[in-house]
Amino acid sequence: MNAPLQVSVTGAAGNIGYSLLFRLAAGDCFGRDQPVVLRLLEIPPAMGALEGVAMELSDAAFPLLAGLELTDDPNVAFSGVNRAFLVGSRPRSKDMDRADLIKINGPIFTGQGKALNDNAADDLRVVVVGNPCNTNCLIANHSAPDVPSERFTAMTRLDQNRAICQLSAKLGVGAGDIGRMVVWGNHSNTMFADFFHARVEPEGRPVPDAVGDAAWLEGDFLTTVGGRGKAIIVARGASSAASAASAAIDHMSTWQHGTRTLADGAADWTSMAIPSGGQYGVPEGLIFSFPLTVSDGTYTVVEGVEHNAFAQERIDKTAGELSFERDAVKDLLG
Ligand code: NAD
Ligand code: LMR
Repeated sequence: MNAPLQVSVTGAAGNIGYSLLFRLAAGDCFGRDQPVVLRLLEIPPAMGALEGVAMELSDAAFPLLAGLELTDDPNVAFSGVNRAFLVGSRPRSKDMDRADLIKINGPIFTGQGKALNDNAADDLRVVVVGNPCNTNCLIANHSAPDVPSERFTAMTRLDQNRAICQLSAKLGVGAGDIGRMVVWGNHSNTMFADFFHARVEPEGRPVPDAVGDAAWLEGDFLTTVGGRGKAIIVARGASSAASAASAAIDHMSTWQHGTRTLADGAADWTSMAIPSGGQYGVPEGLIFSFPLTVSDGTYTVVEGVEHNAFAQERIDKTAGELSFERDAVKDLLG
């Protein structure tokens, strides 16, 4: 057995936490030979509920659960932490956009970024889930100047999974048969689910050829993927939780274990929002979702992806929105 990994989850008594914690403790993220200590952060009024969740985690008798720390102090939650899931923050209601949350949720990420800076282990990796996740991640990144920027990421894997779901249903193939389905930009309505470069495996057939319906891809497909978060809030009366937790597991698991190799030997791609290094004309520093390959715990932006005018217009739009969000929180960027 390896030494336990210290894993923090913020907002651990919330809806996503209730699904995420059990997957983490079961070994679904870091492997069936990797014990974890779960370091759970909540705000004081939710500590009672967190105690109840901790009782349930204990009662599940997970062999890989090597310890539980429950706290309302970020410095304790992030002490020696190797992996952090920053979930804790308010979800939107059905009449809001995710960006409407920035003034409420943004300040959470200054304090938590600083606490990560001061307390985390050298190999820290962060995924921000709390919305608007790209810009919250930007705030945390700026508040942690001693942590290498590339350790701060935000989650667009749920959008990638939603796109895969739509394509696999349309084509009558399994989810695992869709390759290179990546999302560019912001986790918002402006995201661009890049069907042009997606493939149907094992032949590696381009999705536009396999679907044969450009109007559907450019219309309903993009609208459904981009609007899925809102559709779930309307249908469920609460924002996505189990699928969001599952995507967070996928995000961190891919970062840990790498992207797969497709049947013809080509590398698969994944989506994570990462600090832009200026690739594809995206302003440097924005937390932007790019196509990535991952190997040995290191992600690399895929180079040389060519875009037609339709795709380029969408990538410019989502980058523009992130620049606007960055301006809106400039007082939180130190
Ligand atoms: P929830 O309201 O059920 O739970 C949030 C929890 O966070 C609560 O228990 C609350 O007490 C806690 N919290 C609030 N402020 C905190 C702080 N400063 N420190 C620690 N904990 C704090 O919400 P949820 O359904 O779990 O969603 C959480 C966030 O994730 C929301 O912002 C939601 O919009 C977002 N989300 C993002 C994605 C994505 O794809 N990126 C998907 C789904 C949900
Ligand atoms: C989602 O995509 O389901 C989440 O970001 C929740 C939301 O507000 O849409």
